Amino acid sequence: MVIDITQRRPLLGNITGGLSGPAIKPVALYMVYEVAGVVGIPVIGCGGIATASDAIEFIMAGASAIQVGTASFTNPRSPLEVLQGIEQFMQQEGITNITELIGVGRH
Ligand SMILES: Cc1cc2nc3c(=O)[nH]c(=O)nc-3n(C[C@H](O)[C@H](O)[C@H](O)COP(=O)(O)O)c2cc1C
Repeated sequence: MVIDITQRRPLLGNITGGLSGPAIKPVALYMVYEVAGVVGIPVIGCGGIATASDAIEFIMAGASAIQVGTASFTNPRSPLEVLQGIEQFMQQEGITNITELIGVGRH
């Protein structure tokens, strides 16, 4: 929610709106961590992912796949950059299959 202090009323037409992007990443990451710990189905991580590092955090929290949303508005190439960054990280770490990273940060 945002309030226009000059007009003294909510700024958004619907009064409230959804929150996305970097601001929600720590909360989204924690939610993936929590959910992945109790379900037996694949979890898709999303919420504030803008870089490969962000994406790898979600995978290490237990996500089997990730989504890039808001970041693509400011940088339409961000999904590709995230993908290339994941590949680079895997090469550095000597990892050939992404499944080797799923949930490894859950200690
Ligand atoms: C403009 C916009 C439209 C969205 N539309 C949908 C939608 O139709 N269905 C849905 O499940 N989530 C929708 N979302 C939520 C996103 O799927 C995602 O959960 C959220 O934006 C957090 O990820 P992000 O920080 O990478 O954007 C939308 C988000 C934005 C910013």
